[in-house]
Amino acid sequence: MADQTTSAPQGFTSLEVAEALAPTWHSRREQIEAVGTPLRELMVRELDPQPGDAVLELAAGTGETGFDAAERLGDGGRLISSDFSRGMVDGARRRGEERGVENAEYRVIDAERIELADDSVDGAICRFGYMLMEDPAAALSETRRVLRPGGRLVLSVWGPPDRNPFFMIPARSLVQRGHLPPPEPPPAPGLFAMADPERTAGLLRDAGFEEARTEEFTLTFPPPSAEAFVEFMADTAGPIAMALRGLSEADRAEVASDVEESLTPFAADGGYQLPSPALVTVAR
Ligand SMILES: C[S@@+](CC[C@H](N)C(=O)[O-])C[C@H]1O[C@@H](n2cnc3c(N)ncnc32)[C@H](O)[C@@H]1O
Repeated sequence: MADQTTSAPQGFTSLEVAEALAPTWHSRREQIEAVGTPLRELMVRELDPQPGDAVLELAAGTGETGFDAAERLGDGGRLISSDFSRGMVDGARRRGEERGVENAEYRVIDAERIELADDSVDGAICRFGYMLMEDPAAALSETRRVLRPGGRLVLSVWGPPDRNPFFMIPARSLVQRGHLPPPEPPPAPGLFAMADPERTAGLLRDAGFEEARTEEFTLTFPPPSAEAFVEFMADTAGPIAMALRGLSEADRAEVASDVEESLTPFAADGGYQLPSPALVTVAR
């Protein structure tokens, strides 16, 4: 169970962070997916869902990855689109309706305690969820338990911070200025908690998965300006967002100025190009 007593850096629980960000995660969906669509296409290709299958999406956010899978399941198949945040699930339901998805159900599910029967789904998918969970070992065991024997899990997490200016540019400024505590190393949950594929492989083995392979897939975010970038991060980026939201106008202007300076080497096409490497793991 996501530990309601555990505090994210600024004293919020991870569920509180998700609930606070759900409305803007939804309103920023198009910008997120302009970058994230190729990754979700890769993940669904790797999952290879078949007509009639039951697929579980965990930590679904706005649900787009699962909806791509749902398109392959047909009327006889079923997507369970889930997240532990009620606000995120409501957003996914709205998005599913917009996309005309008719074979999905929407459920509030904590990945660390999945309220589904053993062997009840054919595949599971989770984009950028497990590394934020308090107990990814429990979540992966739960995922394995509800997957039928041989069923596939496709997950993605963020790769190493030293190659990730997208998150690290604002995070560095916030930490240096004392607005965000320095990140705790893994196993503490966080954006980079599963950046080491060896750790992920070990967690999967311990959870009962017999084979796993990982590949890197780099997303590139194209902020048009430092100001737009800071606003985007304040709307979407977990603890970074919560820190930015808590700043006075003057403090935020200082952070924006740090960010503008750090963005210089990434200038391209009148804006910036910021890489953010992801790791995609397929396990069964
Ligand atoms: C970075 S967002 C990713 C959302 C979506 N998968 C995507 O790629 O757009 C992380 C999501 O994980 C969810 N989450 C975090 N911990 C969770 C848990 N223990 N169980 C289920 N969902 C969780 C949050 O509510 C949030 O929607």
